[in-house]
Amino acid sequence: MPAQVLKVSPERPEPALIAYAAELIRSGQLVAFPTETVYGLGANAFDETAVARIFTAKGRPSTDPVIVHCVTPLPEGVVDWSELSETARRSAQALMSAHMPGALTLVLPRGKRIPPIVTAGLPSVGVRVPAHPVAQALITAAGVPIAAPSANRFSHTSPTTAEHVHADLAEQIALILDSGETDIGVESSILDLCSTPPRLLRHGGVPLEALRACLAAAGLPDTIEVVKRYATQAEALPAPGMLLKHYAPRATLTLYESDDDTLLRAALHAEARRLAVTKRVGLLIAAEDAPFLDNLPNTCVEVVGSLHDLVGVAHNLFAALRNLDARKVAHILARSFPEVGIGAAIHDRLLRAAAGRVVRL
Ligand code: TXA
Ligand code: MG
Repeated sequence: MPAQVLKVSPERPEPALIAYAAELIRSGQLVAFPTETVYGLGANAFDETAVARIFTAKGRPSTDPVIVHCVTPLPEGVVDWSELSETARRSAQALMSAHMPGALTLVLPRGKRIPPIVTAGLPSVGVRVPAHPVAQALITAAGVPIAAPSANRFSHTSPTTAEHVHADLAEQIALILDSGETDIGVESSILDLCSTPPRLLRHGGVPLEALRACLAAAGLPDTIEVVKRYATQAEALPAPGMLLKHYAPRATLTLYESDDDTLLRAALHAEARRLAVTKRVGLLIAAEDAPFLDNLPNTCVEVVGSLHDLVGVAHNLFAALRNLDARKVAHILARSFPEVGIGAAIHDRLLRAAAGRVVRL
């Protein structure tokens, strides 16, 4: 039976709807729910059988660990604090008071109540406290932490609307809570505090600059090692979830990088015209590019926002990729965005979607 979809108010989630969803979680079912980053596919994190259903539904390899979503204070048995150094513990405290709730996942020593399936057997666990009222209400009502990856088929673009979840997973899950578009639009930043210095495993909703500033303000070492973000399948993975082809649309995507916008637009224009002779082309561009790239034959344009509003671009990015797929383009040509603030996450997702096809001008 396809998933039931229930509209839930994003600001004041209806208690009866939340109670119903929470009961499904407690009984071992899968519920997709909104967070402020992307939609998650939730199961009771303490229930091994329920978590196994996540992997089956997504077609996700069992080697890829899942984030545990909590409300604060974190429940007993989720994190084993005794395994952390004093500095790491103080760093965790500083980051938690600044960004939990928020778009930050901390990788910490796994507590004894988290079954190994959640962490793919790793001795660490990714913990996040989402700020979205629906996510918070659901976790609170369920009375258990909720293990949840992004609610998409494995390696597909993360969902920022309930329709995206439905398109990928309707046949696999019990319920989708629909609270409209997510706010941030890219996934959480993942910081591993089990190593020294801490390692940023994924750029996301909280910029690297903000994480460092938070540590510095607490008088703690603010060095963060940024893990090499793009591994090929053949390379040894520096961390789980680092596969190059991730966050990918169905169409082939080529990423164009340049500091010179005139050159960049000329290259996109020429390549779109060349490809459009034989196939339908998608252009993923900024508002500033649009006047130079409109009215090309056999070409669909997605404007994701201004170069001066990267928060807006992040919000629109995944929906734009899905829209181009829906319009059946065979090849997407995407411009790159400045790697500052949330721009680092935007760049990372586009680079992964390009799976190595990058043109540097
Ligand atoms: O914003 C988000 O983080 C969303 C929402 C739903 O919370 N979740 C999300 O989950 O993006 P997922 O599973 O699509 O991506 C989580 C990433 C995976 O690449 C996984 O490898 C990594 O987090 N991860 C989880 N636990 C880990 C651990 N113990 N050590 C290293 N990486 C971990
Ligand atoms: Mg994901």
